[in-house]
Amino acid sequence: MDIVSIRDFSREQIEHVLKLADKMVPVAKGEERSVLLEGHVLGSLFYEPSTRTRLSFECAMTRLGGRTLGFDEPKGSSVAKGETLADTIRMVDSYCDVIVLRHPQEGAARLAAHFANKPVINAGDGAGQHPTQTILDLFTIRKEKKNLEGINVVVLGDLKYGRTVHSLAEALAMFGAQLTFVAPPSLQIPKEHLKQIETMGHKPKISSSLEDSIKEADVLYVTRIQKERFPDPAEYQKVAGTFRIDLNALKDVKRDMIIMHPLPRVGEIAPEVDATEHARYFEQAFNGVPVRMALLGLVLGASK
Ligand code: NCD
Repeated sequence: MDIVSIRDFSREQIEHVLKLADKMVPVAKGEERSVLLEGHVLGSLFYEPSTRTRLSFECAMTRLGGRTLGFDEPKGSSVAKGETLADTIRMVDSYCDVIVLRHPQEGAARLAAHFANKPVINAGDGAGQHPTQTILDLFTIRKEKKNLEGINVVVLGDLKYGRTVHSLAEALAMFGAQLTFVAPPSLQIPKEHLKQIETMGHKPKISSSLEDSIKEADVLYVTRIQKERFPDPAEYQKVAGTFRIDLNALKDVKRDMIIMHPLPRVGEIAPEVDATEHARYFEQAFNGVPVRMALLGLVLGASK
């Protein structure tokens, strides 16, 4: 079983992962011990920077008694000598039981899954997908809102290049949430994703003004402008700093509205927001551990 796209999951399968993740929380916190994945090895290949995704996978594996090998930048591996992704995957496939891959190219995880016999988990492929982030996002929202059906989720930021948004938007539509996409026009959600959501019977709202939508939001999901994906730096400069959530932006919001962000943030959320009752992004980052524990247990056949 590979995890390449959120489209690989049915709603029932996601529900099942969320339930398993719930049971993993005490182990994720270090309050209980587990040897569920003892003897298993995770191959962790990160061709792009990462803090939360890489470390939470490693934490999940370690806390379940397994081990991790791999690289956190390709410079120190044979990739620097010109080795292809396909060859690297063939090697690592024989050194481990599951491969976690982050790569700048869209489609890289699909390609890796083709060459690997072991399960491949996509930890972000360019502007493509980031399915494990989506499941931890759903886990976070569910904790607060219980039912996802009908809740109002405002997704703000770089909806064009943001892979977390691409996966999350489709999953939220699957769970019946109402979506509003707020972005500068040049960074709006790509047509392909919009179409996919519409074929699921949803009509998301599209806006370039946060002020109009924030009052109705149950969840505000903020994202970073993905500077590294812009083919032209001048295009990035045109949109840099165009939105920022500060206390002033929050003055008319619902009391129980929560703010999420996959992180890292680079100015989209002012630090003063951290102390408000709305901020959930650090809890969200922790939730990566139990969710990735659940996913590793499943793909390695240790959990049912
Ligand atoms: C995101 C990513 O890499 O897509 N980070 C993450 O995994 N939490 C978001 C980002 O880099 O902006």
